[in-house]
Amino acid sequence: MASVSSLASTVNQRLADALSAALPDAAPADPLLRRSDRADFQANGILALAKKAKANPRELATQVVEKLPTGEGDVLKDVEVSGPGFLNITVSDRAIVETLAARAADARLGVPFNENAGTTVVDYAQPNVAKEMHVGHLRSAVIGAAMVEILEFTGEKVVRRHHIGDWGTQFGMLIQYLVEHPSELDHGDADKVDGEEAMSALNRIYKASRVLFDSDEEFKQRARDRVVQLQAGDPESRELWQRFVDESKIYFYSVFNKLDMQIADPDVVGESGYNNMLEETCRILEDSGVAVRSEGALCVFFDDVKGPDGNPTPLIVKKSNGGYGYAATDLSAIRNRVGDLKANTLLYVVDVRQSLHFKMVFETARRAGWLTDDVTAHQLGFGTVLGKDGKPFKTREGETVRLVDLLDEAIERATAVVREKNNEKVGLTEAEIVENGAQIGIGAVKYADLSTSAARDYKFDLDQMVSLNGDTSVYSQYAYARIQSILRLRGEATPAAHPELALAPQERALGLHLDQFGEVVTEAATAYEPHKLAAYIYQLSSLYTSFYSECPVLKADTPAQVENRLFLCDLTARTLHKGLALLGIRTPERL
Ligand code: ARG
Repeated sequence: MASVSSLASTVNQRLADALSAALPDAAPADPLLRRSDRADFQANGILALAKKAKANPRELATQVVEKLPTGEGDVLKDVEVSGPGFLNITVSDRAIVETLAARAADARLGVPFNENAGTTVVDYAQPNVAKEMHVGHLRSAVIGAAMVEILEFTGEKVVRRHHIGDWGTQFGMLIQYLVEHPSELDHGDADKVDGEEAMSALNRIYKASRVLFDSDEEFKQRARDRVVQLQAGDPESRELWQRFVDESKIYFYSVFNKLDMQIADPDVVGESGYNNMLEETCRILEDSGVAVRSEGALCVFFDDVKGPDGNPTPLIVKKSNGGYGYAATDLSAIRNRVGDLKANTLLYVVDVRQSLHFKMVFETARRAGWLTDDVTAHQLGFGTVLGKDGKPFKTREGETVRLVDLLDEAIERATAVVREKNNEKVGLTEAEIVENGAQIGIGAVKYADLSTSAARDYKFDLDQMVSLNGDTSVYSQYAYARIQSILRLRGEATPAAHPELALAPQERALGLHLDQFGEVVTEAATAYEPHKLAAYIYQLSSLYTSFYSECPVLKADTPAQVENRLFLCDLTARTLHKGLALLGIRTPERL
């Protein structure tokens, strides 16, 4: 499949060549090309170059223009010098339509592969065993899944890792409780247990064991002994631990399923998966002097990490009681991901509140030589989900909001929207209303999460999320469905492009935006910024809406124009479909 270079990059190249010809000393010269309202593009780079070469910018600009072939049949229709030495550049209508035709002919819409693709391990969707998932886990899952799709589309080999919290001291308490109350996790046929039932059983056990742990000193001691047994591999403890993990997975999978996300079992490698590496990890750190003993614990110190009292805050890899913590697991996971999985990049989609942890873990792994200069480790940190009032999202009773309740409410509201918009012309059956409602509701939740830059907090506002107007996925999904209904009127044949036609301003704006798809995908992939793709999609839908209101499609002046406009509709729909799919969002055919 052929990748298509965008008009922006073609224009950029021509200008760079002309600039280098006019000012050989400045080569390679960056023309600093931007999209512009006055023309299609504006180049601002000549000013700085002229200044450096002590030349007159307007004269230099004029020389550059003389070196550029322009005309109706060429890519550049018109280039003019403006102001102190800017260039205003208009591309020809023919070039726009021909480029789009090349994109349309390619199954990848002309999006290039990354020539330097490697292997990225993406650590995302990592809830904790025996605990309810919360909105933070939603963010990790949604942003992580989008990054996986975007990276794979650019040719990266992606290994998914769901680093679930399935190890640690709380299991002593849980397992001991189950030993003493053996029937608490029994509920008939395991195949028939649904996620809700599984979670409510786990919740019950968690709460009851916590009460005992806090009130009964003897139980507390038995729970502590149990952790030691578990970590030593005692079969009974392992078996009961496994039951907690299995029960939790029933619940996790039910939530991921509702989120329309595929999570494959072999990719779920939780903290426990690195258990047999922990001892060695600590030994290597201690032997090499990267970690030192401090007050009985094995610690790594950093010059620039200090607590409020000015004393250094270490990364604790082994506690004074001999227990291994979160850091030991993450360090072992790095050894596995780089050493065994041969990753070039490690991407962690985790709450920004864990930034210090990752900073210290990465630095430690560098000192130990597990992360070398050719391996990138990056935390794609995300902000907090806030309620409508701008405070961290809680129920009125002050409890964390259950993820499932939120998703159900989003689906319910979206279904109401779909039902209300349905009419004879749309003709959805009840089953289709329900299916589309789920796709719109889940899409809305995902889009809200993906459309602001990840590091920022965002407000969880269902009214806004399912709105048909404004920056929502619903808006784009309706634009997509509208296009499909037009295309259906025309039947099967794929509409052909007509580069010979003159374009209306709205057609040009839509066309130039369609041409940017590959660059936006590349940018989202390399900078780990799915929100750039979300913004692109929203703008695409807006430009389509203006085009559709100004340019009659089926009633255009000539058959060729009808077909060319249908071609634009078709390419817009395919781009929306692909772009939203990369974000994990479905595009129903009828709405
Ligand atoms: N389970 C953790 C939590 O709920 C997130 C795990 C993040 N990934 C990692 N490799 N530490 O906060």
